[in-house]
Amino acid sequence: MDLINDSFKKKSIDQLIDFLRIKSISADKSFKNEILKASKWVKNSLDEIGCQITRIYETKGNPIVYGEIKLSSNYPTVLIYGHYDVQPPDPLNLWDSPPFEPVIKTTSIHKEGAIFARGASDDKGQMFSHIKAVELLKINDSLNCNVKFLIEGEEEIGSENLEEFITKNTNLLKNDVILISDTSIESNSKPCITTGLRGLSYMEIELIGPNRDLHSGVYGGAVPNPLNTIVDILSKLHDKDKKISIPGFYDNVKLYSDKERIELKKNSSQDGELFKKDIDIIDYEGEKQYDYDERISIRPSLDINGIWGGYQGEGAKTVIPSKAYAKVSMRLVPNQDWNRISDLFKNYIKSITPKNTLVNIKTHHGGLPYISDTSSKEYKAAYMAYKDAYGIAPFSKKEGASIPIVPIIEKLLKSKVILMGFGLNSDSIHSPNEHYGIFNFFKGIETICNFYKYLPKS
Ligand code: BES
Ligand code: MN
Ligand code: MN
Repeated sequence: MDLINDSFKKKSIDQLIDFLRIKSISADKSFKNEILKASKWVKNSLDEIGCQITRIYETKGNPIVYGEIKLSSNYPTVLIYGHYDVQPPDPLNLWDSPPFEPVIKTTSIHKEGAIFARGASDDKGQMFSHIKAVELLKINDSLNCNVKFLIEGEEEIGSENLEEFITKNTNLLKNDVILISDTSIESNSKPCITTGLRGLSYMEIELIGPNRDLHSGVYGGAVPNPLNTIVDILSKLHDKDKKISIPGFYDNVKLYSDKERIELKKNSSQDGELFKKDIDIIDYEGEKQYDYDERISIRPSLDINGIWGGYQGEGAKTVIPSKAYAKVSMRLVPNQDWNRISDLFKNYIKSITPKNTLVNIKTHHGGLPYISDTSSKEYKAAYMAYKDAYGIAPFSKKEGASIPIVPIIEKLLKSKVILMGFGLNSDSIHSPNEHYGIFNFFKGIETICNFYKYLPKS
């Protein structure tokens, strides 16, 4: 697109790099100042592109940034949702360059370079492309929609205060369609629109054995060791066929007919060999009755995310720890309810914990699974937007990850979400060396501009 010229590109990249320097880590409260800085940065960039209203709304947690451009009450209104918070960068020693000192490097799949920094792809880069697209359309006098921006700072910790904000501000946020760029495409030559997200239930287990750490020689063999016990408990979460053992877990799981599964396959163009090669595994794991791509989209899963306790320092220390911990996430599919699943998890863990050990289980956060409407005119506009920008029609893909606010915002605002993502699975989001392709950044901007062009005006 000729609107995206060299000076626009240079300025946009400089701005994104500036944004990526802010350490807006929501999981760690000691970064609150950086969170505030990032919210101001977003507000300022909305001011700069000429939003008539911009505002930072305080919440019990991190602030929500709002912006609005209203051109005509005859125009449709597009609501953009994104998040300015990022995941913690740990483990730091695995980064090739510091996570908050963005650098541009080329890679085997990013000939034009990619920006390496925490949040580059998830979600600062993708979110910022909406601000730049609207700026571009405005400069060229071709914006023919009203636009609202809703950018939050708690997505990575479960969007805990956003639901209340939306509930209280349905009028302010009223719109005809909601766009979110916080997902990925298959590859830069195979664009796709995400049409499903898995739900989530995130749990933490604490086991308490003896009242203090004990000498493993003096006591070992006669006292409960909570680390031994937690390993035992966690090993009972799957059976030998890799099915999740929690009673009732599969009760409401939506099953797909053979015909539907074939249809889904036709749409998806996943390459299993590439998938394995990318993450360097010899074979998949999981339910044999389902292909690997089904296991990460239409089937639920359970993973231990962390397990700790006892001595982890250098050398050996003979100790029986008093406490042991584990974090467990479950990815859910239609029609599993995350609150019910969290309860089933708690009951099951309690039922298999031996009497000599105390167990505490807490739910961190969760979210419902989501399936999007693909029949709307707005979806068609997104489809055309990708087709034009990439020169190839996008397919639709069910994603394994979660964006818990998506089903909630649809319900509260009574409009549909379109997941217009531009990242790649190889972007290493949540992982060391996260990056976002320069190509992806500008293709995203171009695709978004196309969306406004194709969106029917009445
Ligand atoms: N942007 C991701 C979700 C995502 C990742 C969608 C990759 C598609 C492809 C989002 O920021 C995220 O990380 N979500 C969390 C849930 C949240 C409650 C912590 C997730 O899926 O773990
Ligand atoms: Mn995200
Ligand atoms: Mn994320």
